[in-house]
Amino acid sequence: MMRYDTTVERRSTATGSALFLAVAAIALLLASCGSDGGMESEDYGNLLNSPAGLIVVEQEHPTGYGRPDCLVCHELRNIHAVNRTGLPDCTATPDEAPSAACLDLAAIRAIVRDQKEASCAPCHGSNGVEP
Ligand code: HEC
Ligand code: HEC
Repeated sequence: MMRYDTTVERRSTATGSALFLAVAAIALLLASCGSDGGMESEDYGNLLNSPAGLIVVEQEHPTGYGRPDCLVCHELRNIHAVNRTGLPDCTATPDEAPSAACLDLAAIRAIVRDQKEASCAPCHGSNGVEP
């Protein structure tokens, strides 16, 4: 029969939480530096699953509704980085016709890079901002 030494167990839990804090601190550092997607990308699930789809409505945007200054809170490098829509990615190969319903995140990023906050409303709605 195995017997656990509770002293050792307690010590390893303490090590575990110290490690967790260190990892959390590193994650925070990375988040504040922005990223090219990956783990730090903003994740609100599949936007197309909400009642108004891509259009942002007040209930799903309690923090940012009514504000025009999207990029104060949304870091460009952390959005439009991961396809969570369930649509296939548009294929870029010239000999393959892109499927009718596909998501081209690279194209979205290009539009957003060019037009900054002016680009948001055509895709995400007015966000409650008077035009
Ligand atoms: C004050 C900070 C802030 C501002 C300004 C802001 N947002 Fe947000 N946004 C958030 C936060 C936080 C969330 C997560 C939901 C929440 O808590 O409101 C979010 C969520 C979203 C989502 C995902 C919604 C969903 O379906 O789950 C979209 C899209 C979005 N914002 C677009 C915009 C656009 C476009 C603008 C500018 C017109 C904007 N945001 C301005 C903070 C902000
Ligand atoms: C050409 C259309 C288009 C434009 C322009 C656009 N978005 Fe999006 N946005 C999308 C789509 C489509 C998604 C869902 C992406 C996914 O699941 O990969 C999305 C997702 C988001 C999300 C959720 C997080 C994420 O990465 O999925 C936020 C936040 C967001 N957009 C904010 C903005 C802001 C702020 C602007 C303007 C600076 C903007 N968008 C401009 C189409 C657009």
